[in-house]
Amino acid sequence: MSRRVIGIVMNGVTGRMGYRQHLVRSILAIREQGGLALGDGEVLWPEPILVGRSAHKLKELADRHGLEHWTTSLDEALAHPLAEIYFDAQLTQVREPAIRTAIAAGKHIYTEKPTAESLDAAMELARLAREAGVCNGAVQDKLFLPGLLKLKRLVDGGFFGRILSVRGEFGYWVFEGDWQQAQRPSWNYRAEDGGGMILDMFPHWRYVLDNVVAPVRSVYAHTATHIPERVDERGRTYPATADDAAYGIFELDGGITAQINSSWAVRVDRDELVEFQIDGTEGSAVAGLRNCRFQHRAATPKPVWNPDLPVTESFRSQWQQVPDNAEFDNGFKVQWELFLKHVVTGSPYHWDLLQGAKGVQLAELGLRSAREGRRLDVPALEI
Ligand SMILES: NC(=O)c1ccc[n+]([C@@H]2O[C@H](COP(=O)([O-])OP(=O)(O)OC[C@H]3O[C@@H](n4cnc5c(N)ncnc54)[C@H](O)[C@@H]3O)[C@@H](O)[C@H]2O)c1
Repeated sequence: MSRRVIGIVMNGVTGRMGYRQHLVRSILAIREQGGLALGDGEVLWPEPILVGRSAHKLKELADRHGLEHWTTSLDEALAHPLAEIYFDAQLTQVREPAIRTAIAAGKHIYTEKPTAESLDAAMELARLAREAGVCNGAVQDKLFLPGLLKLKRLVDGGFFGRILSVRGEFGYWVFEGDWQQAQRPSWNYRAEDGGGMILDMFPHWRYVLDNVVAPVRSVYAHTATHIPERVDERGRTYPATADDAAYGIFELDGGITAQINSSWAVRVDRDELVEFQIDGTEGSAVAGLRNCRFQHRAATPKPVWNPDLPVTESFRSQWQQVPDNAEFDNGFKVQWELFLKHVVTGSPYHWDLLQGAKGVQLAELGLRSAREGRRLDVPALEI
């Protein structure tokens, strides 16, 4: 079996997502399993080339995982003889110039979402990558989660009949940082640093709705900054200038209405941190990150509204679980493997920078809708 080494310049690996999900749970996990089998007797061996701002953090990280290559210079990393792919999990705000530099250096691009801060910039990146002829991809991890794969299985199998509506509930309490430390970085709560719920989560909702249910055609969003003041990593109080909750209504192809609440100021009374319910003429289903339960038309109870009587049925127990019927790996890793195969074998890959730009488009329109207090159409995007 021959081994093909592929160098991946990884920027932002000292951050939450870059470290845990991309370096450890994806790239290092692929190495731990012996590399990525390409199906022709060849094994692909990803070689991370870490790049970032802090030499001591990078060195510590490289030492901890026995990695050889790291640098604080992006140009140096891109010029590394092994480097074929540039990956970006930096703060959203600093992503665009780094990706431009990497495209100019002829590297294939894989990036966290949102791919840029504005639709114009996101489209420009997609265009530049296409013109340069480099492979490109944007993280759309939720599509590879077991719960959503099961939901998609139900959609593809025609379980729902005619889909009527989708309701999504996302969120949890993010501590303010005063008496308990916040569990998310403070930039998320500052608009001037690229933070905010819409910019963070609407890119996810776009690809989830587009790919699992039907393409999004319009958006109406209402935003709030429920917690106006927070305390940062250094214990300093700062004004929260970004939305920490977004209440969105989306129209999808086929007259489907989707409604998704996203909030960092809500306490969880759900089985999972995100849940999507689809109701259709033939049945309904509720999917979380891992599980998906369903109820068929024939098993639907007939509740009668009577506030004078106590509830006599356990509605939750009337649902059935969709079986696994497959082994599910980490969603980030699954997408990485598809992208790596795409780069080296030319296998099809759908989740590119244009798809990523659609997420930025929905975020941009969502913010405008909230500002102007009106519903906005979501026009088709073409490079
Ligand atoms: N796919 C997902 O589910 C998901 C979830 C959370 C975040 N994200 C995205 O991942 C990216 C990183 O988010 P995170 O939560 O890991 O953030 P983080 O603050 O934990 O990490 C940010 C990284 O960017 C680096 N960086 C580079 N320039 C910087 C600068 N000028 N200021 C601050 N940091 C700078 C930091 O060193 C760090 O490595 C964001 O674009 C975010 O939208 C994606």
